[in-house]
Amino acid sequence: MRQTKVFFLVDSFGIPTSYSLLRTSNGIFAFDTRCTHAGAPTSLSGGQLKCPAHGSIFNPETGEVVRGPAVEPLKSYRTIEANGEIRIIIS
Ligand code: FES
Repeated sequence: MRQTKVFFLVDSFGIPTSYSLLRTSNGIFAFDTRCTHAGAPTSLSGGQLKCPAHGSIFNPETGEVVRGPAVEPLKSYRTIEANGEIRIIIS
């Protein structure tokens, strides 16, 4: 089973951040979807996270760069699933 969702959270300053949440048989993985090249928001397309600014592509399961110009992977977060909720540990 593989399921990916992209959603936005707004922090206490009103700044939205987009996260990718992926469920696989190995667990749930969360990534900040801001491109590591210059910070543009990536979006899920064809099973990959694609950056419209300069064309970088990221693997939504690992956050690794599939195609540059970005060289750093997406920032990842630990997740906890309990009682029907998924929590992303942002610290
Ligand atoms: S900001 Fe994403 S490729 Fe440049």
